[in-house]
Amino acid sequence: MTKRTNRWRRISVLGALALCVLLTSQTRAAWAQDEPRPGRQASAMPRGLEVYQGRVIAQTMHFSGAEWLVRENRESEERCSLMLTNLGVKPGANVCDMGCGNGFYSLQLARLVGEQGQVYAVDVQPEMLYFLRDRADSAGIENISPILGSMYDPRLPRDSIDLVLMVDVYHEFSHPQHMLAGIRRALKPDGVIVLLEYRAEDPDVPIKPLHKMSKEQVDLEMTSNGFKLVESFDELPWQHMLFYGRDEEWTAPDGYPNEAPGNSRPARR
Ligand SMILES: C[S@@+](CC[C@H](N)C(=O)[O-])C[C@H]1O[C@@H](n2cnc3c(N)ncnc32)[C@H](O)[C@@H]1O
Repeated sequence: MTKRTNRWRRISVLGALALCVLLTSQTRAAWAQDEPRPGRQASAMPRGLEVYQGRVIAQTMHFSGAEWLVRENRESEERCSLMLTNLGVKPGANVCDMGCGNGFYSLQLARLVGEQGQVYAVDVQPEMLYFLRDRADSAGIENISPILGSMYDPRLPRDSIDLVLMVDVYHEFSHPQHMLAGIRRALKPDGVIVLLEYRAEDPDVPIKPLHKMSKEQVDLEMTSNGFKLVESFDELPWQHMLFYGRDEEWTAPDGYPNEAPGNSRPARR
């Protein structure tokens, strides 16, 4: 074989590889929608915290551990169906599964809101959204809108959400104030956030301390961000289930991140 033929063969192989990479990245971008552009985001990104109101913030759970979220004994350990029965989600509602992971709850929420309702499933790890897509496709569920959020902006449409569910998520926020401000903007006036956090008060809950929160700590952080406790459900084996509504008497302190940083925008629908 001549040197010239060898060179063309090398170019064709490289070309085919480049095409594969391009097609894969286009498919990924289509699902992940407006993935933030790294250069632009870095310049406007507010500084993440390590400690907030005396609480050490936990590391984000990596997507490689996603199987744990759909483990068989999750129902018996956490009584997920009892939680959903007490969530009060109505058919036709717009709900958000914030920090959805691989969509363990998104799929169930999608069934609860029905065809007239919508589930906004937000996560910061695109891989989690791909897992969610596969699970939703296999189940034939079409009323889930995946949103690739940023660490400081949930990128939800304004004034449109009835209920934001956060299961085992809030304690991971590196920008709790920014995230709560973004969620507040997205909630309808009578919308609620429902937080589920493993009970820090209970040493028998077999979860690492950094991934647990006390009721008192949750309340301190939520009230400092313009929310008030409106309801709680105390019958789950491991978790607090706390409902927070907007506190309309609250005034944001100076410098509070009421608006999303300049380069952030709601995801396309
Ligand atoms: C422990 S998992 C819980 C997943 C899901 N809620 C469940 O219970 O099955 C926490 C998830 O929150 C996501 N997360 C962390 N910080 C986030 C943020 N600022 N915005 C959206 N998702 C976030 C992580 O990527 C991870 O998928």
